Amino acid sequence: EALARALDALPKVDLHCHLEGTMQPATVVELAHKNGVALPTDDPAELYSYSSLDEFLTVFWLVQSTLVDRDDWARLAHEAVTASARHGVVHQECFFTPTRHLASGQRLAGIVAGLDEGLSAAETETGTTCRLVVDMDRAFGPEAGRQLVEELVDLRSAGSPGAERVIGVGMDSTELGVDSTTYAPAYDVARAAGLRRTGHQGENATARQVAKCLDALGLERVDHGVPVLDSAVLTARMVDERIPITVCPTSNVVIARCFDRLEDHVLPRMRAAGLLATVNTDDPALSDLDLGREYAAVAEAFGWGWNQMVEIALDGIEASWLDDSEKADLR
Ligand code: ADE
Ligand code: ZN
Repeated sequence: EALARALDALPKVDLHCHLEGTMQPATVVELAHKNGVALPTDDPAELYSYSSLDEFLTVFWLVQSTLVDRDDWARLAHEAVTASARHGVVHQECFFTPTRHLASGQRLAGIVAGLDEGLSAAETETGTTCRLVVDMDRAFGPEAGRQLVEELVDLRSAGSPGAERVIGVGMDSTELGVDSTTYAPAYDVARAAGLRRTGHQGENATARQVAKCLDALGLERVDHGVPVLDSAVLTARMVDERIPITVCPTSNVVIARCFDRLEDHVLPRMRAAGLLATVNTDDPALSDLDLGREYAAVAEAFGWGWNQMVEIALDGIEASWLDDSEKADLR
């Protein structure tokens, strides 16, 4: 339909997208064969099936395990940006979560150099820009997180290829049984080095936990933030300070299952409350999505028209970590 086509073409930014979650099933199967990784099935429909966040994370880890050498990372990054550019994405700040790979002997320098190679080629081909945010995997604990951030800081000060493309740190994976404030030492290292700071909070956490993380970790953005409205104090603070929430509406329905239907999502209430709540993909290939379709789905679910969706796109630019002149170029 006409609005959906226009929203696909609308210039948009994606601030919450996991590179590993952009991998098409055919690529997973190819890399698995190349690298000798056993998959439970080669059937894409079966490969990408899950019914909870924990089951999803098992699939995500399987996808990650197919990324072994520098060329694999370059291919992943190149395919991610060329795919998003086809759906109107003009800038993205993508997560990658290398803790698992580092634990199995890969080097951060090689991962970052590979990603940078693929991203540079895709940027030249498409004009879409991509910066990276390294995520700490909470399944590996806060000490592994701190080591990851320190290694990144070292690579940046050594001028390692591609390291300057990693502009921030975050954390992802499970929230169950995790006190995310224990990641404070890692975030302190990031802050001291001038890195930007975000974190997944609020797929399976309370507003109180989100608030504690803002204070303890100095988060500048919150990824997901589903329960924020449960606290009037937290909501008022995030409105006043214009702390962005990178919302992933479809993901919250199909991955974490916070809501039964998109129509039940709190996004309209967040925006009505004045929160800087943006629309993003999370794991587009693993949830059969792209940002054009996500904008169309949100418009349809909440009865929003062109002007409201343009507002969301502009809020995405504000919420990005581009500098003011780069933001002005996108508006
Ligand atoms: N890693 C990739 N997608 C994620 C999500 N939705 N929640 C937590 N960790 C993730
Ligand atoms: Zn995410």
